Amino acid sequence: MADVMTDLDPENMPRSPGLTYQDLLDQDSRPVPDVLRLQSPKDLGHREYPVSRYTSKEWHDREVEHLWLKVWQMACREEDIPEPGDHLRYDIAGMSFLVVRTETGEIRAYPNACLHRGRMLKEFDGNATELRCPFHGFCWKLDGSLSDIPAGWDFPQIDHATFSLPSLPVATWSGFVFINPDRHCEPFDDFIKDLAMLFERWDLGALHKASHTAKIMQCNWKIAQEAFCEAFHVNATHPQILYNLGDVNSQVDVWENCARVITPSHTPSPLMEGSVSEAELLRSIMGLPHDAEVPPLPDGMSPREFLANQRREMLRPVAGHLVDEYCDAELVDSHDYTLFPNLHPWAAFNGIVYRFRPNGLDHRSCIMECIMLAPFSGERPPSAPVRWLAADEKWSSALGFLGKVFDQDAFNMPKVQLGLESTYQTGIVLSGYQESKVRWLHHKLTEWVGE
Ligand code: FES
Ligand SMILES: [Fe+2]
Repeated sequence: MADVMTDLDPENMPRSPGLTYQDLLDQDSRPVPDVLRLQSPKDLGHREYPVSRYTSKEWHDREVEHLWLKVWQMACREEDIPEPGDHLRYDIAGMSFLVVRTETGEIRAYPNACLHRGRMLKEFDGNATELRCPFHGFCWKLDGSLSDIPAGWDFPQIDHATFSLPSLPVATWSGFVFINPDRHCEPFDDFIKDLAMLFERWDLGALHKASHTAKIMQCNWKIAQEAFCEAFHVNATHPQILYNLGDVNSQVDVWENCARVITPSHTPSPLMEGSVSEAELLRSIMGLPHDAEVPPLPDGMSPREFLANQRREMLRPVAGHLVDEYCDAELVDSHDYTLFPNLHPWAAFNGIVYRFRPNGLDHRSCIMECIMLAPFSGERPPSAPVRWLAADEKWSSALGFLGKVFDQDAFNMPKVQLGLESTYQTGIVLSGYQESKVRWLHHKLTEWVGE
């Protein structure tokens, strides 16, 4: 039975004692945009979701059939294939697709398979004037129409006019290229409309891909993804950032195809029970030793405003007037959105994008990626290539401070997989509010995949 999702009254529902995120916004030094004033908490019940969603090959096979082969999914950035002939291989759940920029600048997607005897057309990303199969040399133009069959006299059954590569649905939004393996899928505009409404103010298409890091993680893709869907784990997994992160002040909002968790920064965790002084907060944010002098703040200025101003000046050379239009909350907080099933674009200049997907047909490992988007001035810099981390390479070797936090998250992941393989429980237990993005993900999975 599908769960029912109903609206909750944000003013009258269980929440952490102390400041709400909206209270913090009231203290912002700049006008706060309407999109941050929206609140969309949902009641998704308190049911447990089956452990088999993480551990069972049978569930994974159903996920492939009913989700990955049916849903709109981000394949790449437009800037990854800027020139005619640029092509990129996108693999999902044992299938491979080719995303191609044609002569006219259009983006097309094809199954990465030759129509002769099925060899994959391209193993690697690159640029080509045509799509020629390395096995026997059948060749298609970039637009998918057939251009050549070696010894074509031997294939009288083939009609050249119709022997084209099957074109799959493609759409773009905010610089991302989406494909759908299902040629009878729902219109992309319907699929993206909630997220597009929420991002009207932030054009991620105007940012460039500054880095792209990927690693195979030894856990189901949902275990990795769910580690980034709530701030509740910060107290146990990342205690070092409690001094300056309002973890349980987070606001969680759910719409149909997307959800968000906004976690305020530069404010101490309510779990520290008022024991953090302003100096400790500033030292923690600035990474200073515990006895270091901290700069005095101008009269009446909060640490959030002070640090937002610092960030404004840092970004001004590349982001221009936008830094003055954005409020403090946009400059300092974590605005983590998730588009079902697996894309996490952060808002404003957060610049972070996560993607999680199964590693081929193995339901006990996944591919976790972190793309960093950044503002730029002048000509768009070239798109950063993917850097694959080896099994023994840490996220911090590629992503600095953020990577250190990831390493703490990553340390949990295989242990969650093993724990779920070993548990005598039949379901996972979720909190009502703070973990409602995880609950929303499972609510959607029930809709798409079943129980
Ligand atoms: S399999 Fe591609 S040309 Fe034969
Ligand atoms: Fe984390």
